Amino acid sequence: MKTKKKDFWESIGSPKYALAPMVDHSDLPFRLLCRKYKTELTYTQMYNVNSLTTEDVFEKTIIKEINELDYPCFIQFASHDPEILLKSAKFIEKKTPCIDLNLGCPQKIAKNGHYGSFLLDHPDEVYKIIGYLCNNNLKCGVSCKIRLFNNLEKSYELCKKLEELGINCLCIHGRTKEEIKEKIGKCNWDSIKIIKSLLNIPIIANGGIEKFDDVIKCFDYTKCDCVMSGEKLLENPSFFSGEIYDIDNIAIEYINLWKGFNLNYINDNLHIVRGHLFKMFYSAMQKEPKFNQMLAKSNNLDDILNVCFQIKEMRKNDNLESKFGWYRRYRDKINKKEYINGNMDDKYNDFNEEIIGDFFQ
Ligand SMILES: Cc1cc2nc3c(=O)[nH]c(=O)nc-3n(C[C@H](O)[C@H](O)[C@H](O)COP(=O)(O)O)c2cc1C
Repeated sequence: MKTKKKDFWESIGSPKYALAPMVDHSDLPFRLLCRKYKTELTYTQMYNVNSLTTEDVFEKTIIKEINELDYPCFIQFASHDPEILLKSAKFIEKKTPCIDLNLGCPQKIAKNGHYGSFLLDHPDEVYKIIGYLCNNNLKCGVSCKIRLFNNLEKSYELCKKLEELGINCLCIHGRTKEEIKEKIGKCNWDSIKIIKSLLNIPIIANGGIEKFDDVIKCFDYTKCDCVMSGEKLLENPSFFSGEIYDIDNIAIEYINLWKGFNLNYINDNLHIVRGHLFKMFYSAMQKEPKFNQMLAKSNNLDDILNVCFQIKEMRKNDNLESKFGWYRRYRDKINKKEYINGNMDDKYNDFNEEIIGDFFQ
């Protein structure tokens, strides 16, 4: 089994740097942008496949988000239904090297839908799903993205069982499902390290990455095969390059990537484009709030590009490091104990459940 799993990882190029799956933020142009700056593995956002039951619907939602330039890209599913998951996997098994089961989402929407991290409270259901996916001759691999339990032994048992059932690799977010909002704690690399040392499948470590030095430390400490980052890449898509590029130019590059797609696709996704720019330009908008309004009102790429150029002009003499800020937006407040439950945006508030619509019912 060890060799087979190693073959899988080698067949996708043994990636070391992964972009996390993020609802409304894992768009194809963003994935391509991150790849240009050393990201080697990407994921789609999670798709709640319960509502995507025909190949036609798959074509219009997931398949159009896949592109050969974005390889390897894992497609993430959220569901608790083995039949639906297998059927969904069959639709795309030749278009992705791997489907990933979301076992980490801590949101209310996941609780209501009985998926994500809430499935971890029912390990037998998880094992049934994974056993079913791994034993039905899928042409692609199967992976999971989990959160930890409070108890290391329980976390290890889960991971070991998932390995025995045949998953090809495993992503561990080193926090529990309770560690969100004001309870977000330090990422538990100790557990990731121990689990990695006891398993034979490739492990992707997620959480606690803010500086490039953290990436190096995470590899050294946990001995993981790959490091995944979410929020840091939202702030700085060139993060994994280890170099400091001008975020104002990167934002313009992002818009230009969108220009390569057809108008309908662009118009359907303008909220996603703006969502990214609010993060890349967080500091600029703190400095000059009018840009916030301007961006919110922009309803085509040229207007958005115009905002980018104005921000670039405003900050032309600024130190490149000083242009960042979004990643620390709530972390600093937590440190200063200013965080009051419900009064501040938390990292998952970017999940706009209205925009997500049918997918995430
Ligand atoms: C806006 C947003 C959307 C997310 N959506 C997903 C998702 O669809 N699937 C998933 O497994 N995790 C999702 N996550 C969690 C991230 O993949 C990642 O595990 C988490 O942000 C911790 O990594 P980080 O500290 O590097 O950001 C999301 C996180 C954010 C900030």
